Amino acid sequence: MSKHKEARASEIERLVRRAATSSGVITLGGGLPAESQFPRSALAASFLRVVTRHNPSALQYGWAEGLAPLREWIARRLRARGASVSADDVIVTNGAQQAIAIAADLLVRPGQAIAVEPETYPAALDLFRARRLKVVSLGHGRASYVLPLVGNPGGRPLSSEARAAVARGSSPIIEDDAYGELRFISKAPPLFLAERRSRTFYVGTLSKTLCPGLRVGWLIPPASRRKGALRLKASGDLQANSLTQAVAEDYLARTDYDERLSQLRRFYGARAERLAAAVHRWLPGWRFQYPEGGFSLWLTTDAHVDEARFLKAAIAEGVSFDVGSMFEAQPSTANTDQPTRLRLCFSFVRAQDLATGVRRLATAWNRVARSARSKRRRPEGRRGEQG
Ligand SMILES: Cc1ncc(COP(=O)(O)O)c(C=O)c1O
Repeated sequence: MSKHKEARASEIERLVRRAATSSGVITLGGGLPAESQFPRSALAASFLRVVTRHNPSALQYGWAEGLAPLREWIARRLRARGASVSADDVIVTNGAQQAIAIAADLLVRPGQAIAVEPETYPAALDLFRARRLKVVSLGHGRASYVLPLVGNPGGRPLSSEARAAVARGSSPIIEDDAYGELRFISKAPPLFLAERRSRTFYVGTLSKTLCPGLRVGWLIPPASRRKGALRLKASGDLQANSLTQAVAEDYLARTDYDERLSQLRRFYGARAERLAAAVHRWLPGWRFQYPEGGFSLWLTTDAHVDEARFLKAAIAEGVSFDVGSMFEAQPSTANTDQPTRLRLCFSFVRAQDLATGVRRLATAWNRVARSARSKRRRPEGRRGEQG
């Protein structure tokens, strides 16, 4: 990253952190799940059960691949979605993030290329860049990282052309299905895990459907790569957390998970509608495609503004959002022809704050866009005054 880009990224991070700790700021960024949906009493009961049971395995070391009944639960759910998977194929990880890291480390060396969608999950981009991988577009690269069912930031499935480009090649696919079970629309494309088993590294998590604090995720590598993946997992941290695996397993064994998913889909689906309506009303010049799942909308407008300036103005109005460049595989250099893009999350804030948040955002946008327009209209000689 250039010095200039690094300085902008840390300026944006400083603003985001300030907004997160400022009371009165409505957080439309961050992508956190709704805390009202955490099953707190049931998890507390599970916690008590697993730490007080006669066999103290929840407090003991476990195997690198993770708890057997939890792996069986994961495999059973994936079989119901058409994939041929057994508990022995599953490696429990510390969140999906670690699963992506293990797959990337197995597949792509520093200096080699990994292919991604034009906009994708920022912490995966950070991971790839930290490993000094070259981030390229789909159809190229030694491996592809994709979110086929529900994308982040846009909540949309992979386009059919992108899907075909990934399916056509012979290179490995890292299939991130973090939001796959949070689709508002029941019809879903098939999993690459089901269609391309021998080259798919499937990544799942309980972070979006249960709670991220557990840090329970999983990786299903092709059978031929399982040993290598396990070795990487064990060398990094021995195993995933015994206690949270046991809590999750106990909770899931007593829960109608499909019923929970239906309820979450209704909950987030209603939030998505509410946010979309607020955007239509208050930000009519912004475009987005309606999400099919997930936690967020991905918005674009043709007018260009400096995104750090826009975020600062928004926070001053009492709302925060995620700047577009975080998600871009090839972040564009500041260029006044560039559209402005951002992610708005409907998942975290109270439903009644969504419209207020967007109204505040519109106030900030109108001010910043007006000032950008008037700067562009200024004669050449005076533009230099800013230095
Ligand atoms: C697409 C995607 N993949 C993976 C993750 C990481 O999930 P986990 O909390 O399981 O590490 C996230 C979290 O935001 C995500 O959005």
